[in-house]
Amino acid sequence: MGFSTDAVHAGQEPDPVTGSVTVPIYQTSTYVQEELGKHKGFEYARTQNPTRFALEKNLAVLERGKRGFAFASGMAAITAVTYLLRAGDHVVASNNMYGGTYRLFEKILATYGLTFDYVNTGDLAATAKAFRPSTKMVFMETPTNPSMIISDLRALAELARSKGALLVVDNTFMTPYFQRPIELGAQLVVHSTTKYLNGHSDMVGGIVISNDDAASERLQFVQNAAGAVPGPFDCWLCLRGVKTLALRMERHEQNAGAIAEWLASHPKLKRVLYPGLKNHPGHDLHKSQASGFGGMIAFDTGSIEKGAAVLKRARLFALAESLGGVESLISHPATMTHASVPREDRERVGLTDGLVRISVGIEDLDDLLLDLRSALSVL
Ligand SMILES: Cc1ncc(COP(=O)(O)O)c(C=O)c1O
Repeated sequence: MGFSTDAVHAGQEPDPVTGSVTVPIYQTSTYVQEELGKHKGFEYARTQNPTRFALEKNLAVLERGKRGFAFASGMAAITAVTYLLRAGDHVVASNNMYGGTYRLFEKILATYGLTFDYVNTGDLAATAKAFRPSTKMVFMETPTNPSMIISDLRALAELARSKGALLVVDNTFMTPYFQRPIELGAQLVVHSTTKYLNGHSDMVGGIVISNDDAASERLQFVQNAAGAVPGPFDCWLCLRGVKTLALRMERHEQNAGAIAEWLASHPKLKRVLYPGLKNHPGHDLHKSQASGFGGMIAFDTGSIEKGAAVLKRARLFALAESLGGVESLISHPATMTHASVPREDRERVGLTDGLVRISVGIEDLDDLLLDLRSALSVL
């Protein structure tokens, strides 16, 4: 089926008991059994929940993977993926990704005997050089958060495969509507479903989509054994959000494209980072592996003081962490989402103190431009 048809229907057959068109919220912790060992395939809700299963099936279809495993947050999903590793294993990770992922790797997993090297995955030769005999995983984002560095998914999938490592792509920024890493050779995709997939800023969640049978088997075990599962209501909210994913992503991109052009012509801005801009260094590569550019833009105001002044003046662009909701948000990565990344590491990837990130919502473009014009008037 086409993407929008799958978004509305995959994994969501009408309820067999009542015919309910919408997947019910199975708000239960357990299921009655007829007799010892005889049940309907549902024993306990950490292990099985029909609302969660519907979400997992739906997102697996959209990402073109074989299985989906939902978690209580994007970080819980990423943590579950790292349980595929063992002490002594090495990971090649992108040197610019969500700060919380870096924090998990460095502050928790590194103390359990895993080792990490952070490279610009946009540089294929540098990435190849970072491999060791113990490398079991490549973990990356493209575009990266928030520097918008583009990496070659096909080439990295080939490289990882040739070295016997799994390629894991955090596809939160693009969503499967614009980019499907599994089709390009990745084994695993993760999302913070908190963002575009839910799209309405009303839940926190995560998902791992797997196209690798051995990884799927382990992830199913991990999901139950470690237990960071989402509640059924949050799964239902995400399912409802996904139904309009295609429409929302079109509008996010339409607004973001126009705003990026406007920002690029602003005399006071140093750099505007949006893969849809023709002068973005990764523009052509991104176009070759994704069907759209998304709704995230970053721009450099020149200093932390100027960035703070812009943030203070913005009204419609609400000052908040997170992204991907219908409402426009504005944030300061150096002190908010990426505060846990050391300054030298941030600056190496262009994440300067003056960088401001916006998540462009689906409001009317004229209103968004008016707000930005006013916010940038302080520069
Ligand atoms: C790209 C990316 N990955 C992962 C996460 C973590 O997701 P969550 O906040 O749902 O735990 C975020 C959160 O901002 C993110 O932006």
